[in-house]
Amino acid sequence: MEALMGCNDGLTSKIHMPAFYLAPLEGITGYIYRNAVRDFFGDGISKYYTPFIVVHEKRAMSSKEINDILPEHNEGITLIPQVLTDDPEGFLRIEKKLCEFGYREVNLNLGCPSKTVASKGRGAGFLGRKAALDDFLYSIFERRVMDISVKTRIGEVDTGEFFELLDIFNKYPIKELIIHPRVRYEYYKGSPHRDVFYEGFEKSVNPVCYNGDVNSAGDVAELLKGTGNRLEAVMTGRGMIRNPSLIRTLTGGQPYSKDELLEFLKRILSDYRGVFSGEKPVLQKMKELWSYMQYEFPDREKQISALLKCRSISEYRIMEGAVIASP
Ligand SMILES: Cc1cc2nc3c(=O)[nH]c(=O)nc-3n(C[C@H](O)[C@H](O)[C@H](O)COP(=O)(O)O)c2cc1C
Repeated sequence: MEALMGCNDGLTSKIHMPAFYLAPLEGITGYIYRNAVRDFFGDGISKYYTPFIVVHEKRAMSSKEINDILPEHNEGITLIPQVLTDDPEGFLRIEKKLCEFGYREVNLNLGCPSKTVASKGRGAGFLGRKAALDDFLYSIFERRVMDISVKTRIGEVDTGEFFELLDIFNKYPIKELIIHPRVRYEYYKGSPHRDVFYEGFEKSVNPVCYNGDVNSAGDVAELLKGTGNRLEAVMTGRGMIRNPSLIRTLTGGQPYSKDELLEFLKRILSDYRGVFSGEKPVLQKMKELWSYMQYEFPDREKQISALLKCRSISEYRIMEGAVIASP
């Protein structure tokens, strides 16, 4: 992919551009959010990922999880469902179900750092159990019915683990290895270890996608430089929630206008009202978005603080306008 990059930062040369993906964020990037992004800011987004689907022993998927992947809830979206488990049988059970829904790629979560997940040896907790991880990958790749991609951190405790992990990943035909270069215990703190990423990029036999703290054209330019202009894909999460036109601008489009942002939020609010009963859960969802979007409006601290405290949707709408629309 080639594009004129950086209309906003003065770069005008034609350079290689990676594909851009919207990262999965549990509780945020469900189908309601994805549909609004597709309609308002979808230009330049090649793939979307579902938040993780948890494998249960007794049932394949919850009704919430099924709703999220239903093809009729994801029209015009290239969606990759993500699964979180350390049980090969459970993984294959869900993979088969996803295949029945028409999916042809499933993503394995090896990145979730949260205590509830990782302490059970799943997500980023699986990275500390390397022999078990190797056995798990062997079982699922031997019996898979579709492509498998992996979203991983670079270790559980120490960045040095990554090269041992890569030796394991390199044994399997992983469709795409999405690397978030932090270890589990770093959670989201500090800066991603881009130097470790560049080394991993060179050593991986599988296609690689970068993920972590991409917020600007400058970040993408740095990643391209570090990979000798060979990086094929970048995934961004919090940067997109904060500024939903991020990928559009990175691929040569316009930043959001105030009206566009207001309409985008109005649409999300209205769609949440359609699925939740009562105002409380709707407000909770909107406030969660604002916990990221607030950083776009550094001079509106007072209004944002009032928005995050408001108790009714009518109050919320007024504060939203005060943050975004007032001069
Ligand atoms: C609230 C929250 C929920 C997340 N949920 C998921 C998830 O379900 N699956 C996953 O692979 N990563 C999840 N992540 C991690 C993001 O996909 C991404 O890897 C991380 O935020 C770093 O990228 P970013 O700096 O572009 O946000 C979550 C992150 C946050 C902050």
